[in-house]
Amino acid sequence: MGFVTVATLEQLSDGAVLKVQVAEQELLIYRVGTAILAVSARCTHLQVSLPAHQENGVVTCAFHGAQFELLSGQCRSYPNSPKLLDSNQSHDLRIYPVRILENRVQVDCD
Ligand code: FES
Repeated sequence: MGFVTVATLEQLSDGAVLKVQVAEQELLIYRVGTAILAVSARCTHLQVSLPAHQENGVVTCAFHGAQFELLSGQCRSYPNSPKLLDSNQSHDLRIYPVRILENRVQVDCD
């Protein structure tokens, strides 16, 4: 599929999070200054949809409180299983390549 347009720059103010659907994947698009990032919008715990809301660059799952950094996709906390965070198993959100073409924000979901 390659890069597809998911938003325009005007739709993403600084600090804004936009939830978009590309094919069968749900993504969070996050803008910090001139940086725009795209991560999976599915919690890695039970694959439920994450909210399009961030606080200090962190999105929190409404179900059991898992937290993920939007800049890196890194899992900061995971529900009732601190041992899992110490293991080698990753609970991070998948990150997708982003490019800006004119004023269009494009994401590669392949
Ligand atoms: S489904 Fe997200 S923390 Fe459990």
